[in-house]
Amino acid sequence: MVREIVVYPDKRLKLISKEVVTFDGALHDLLDDMYDTMRARNGVGLAAIQVGIDVRALIINIPLELEYGEGVEHTDQPKENTIEMINPVIIEADGTEKFQEGCLSIPGVYEDVERAKHVKVEYFNREGEKQIIEDDDFLAVAIQHEIDHLEGKVFIEKLSYTKRKKFEKEWKRKQKEGLI
Ligand code: CO
Repeated sequence: MVREIVVYPDKRLKLISKEVVTFDGALHDLLDDMYDTMRARNGVGLAAIQVGIDVRALIINIPLELEYGEGVEHTDQPKENTIEMINPVIIEADGTEKFQEGCLSIPGVYEDVERAKHVKVEYFNREGEKQIIEDDDFLAVAIQHEIDHLEGKVFIEKLSYTKRKKFEKEWKRKQKEGLI
């Protein structure tokens, strides 16, 4: 089921999400709905707080064609490719890399953000089993972006003062015009 997405500057996006303690049907329903919601909006990742639930759960599904090159408009994101991370913790991070990021809670805004190039992350899957993953490509960026949501942060907070000012001004204008 597609849920409503919490849009910036909604205060819920500032909440620090709580640890998941029970890996039950409600969690599975939430994760399934997050997948439906992400697909409906053509996203590549979503944190639970973006559908208004402040628990430490996120999903990432990198479209298949994205790995093969530019210019591909149509991409596939089969559900079985979804990485579901519960209570994720970054245990290693090194290097730096700039990538262009966007966010379903800040639709239509894309900006370069600098993050660690390589991360190693410990997390639990939906069954409560501990997993470890590492990456030094787009997945590493997505993981860091989504984990920031669990800490109540959005990517535009990483922009320079000037870019942030410009963003806020344009965002207010879009809101006034009813574009958001
Ligand atoms: Co986001």
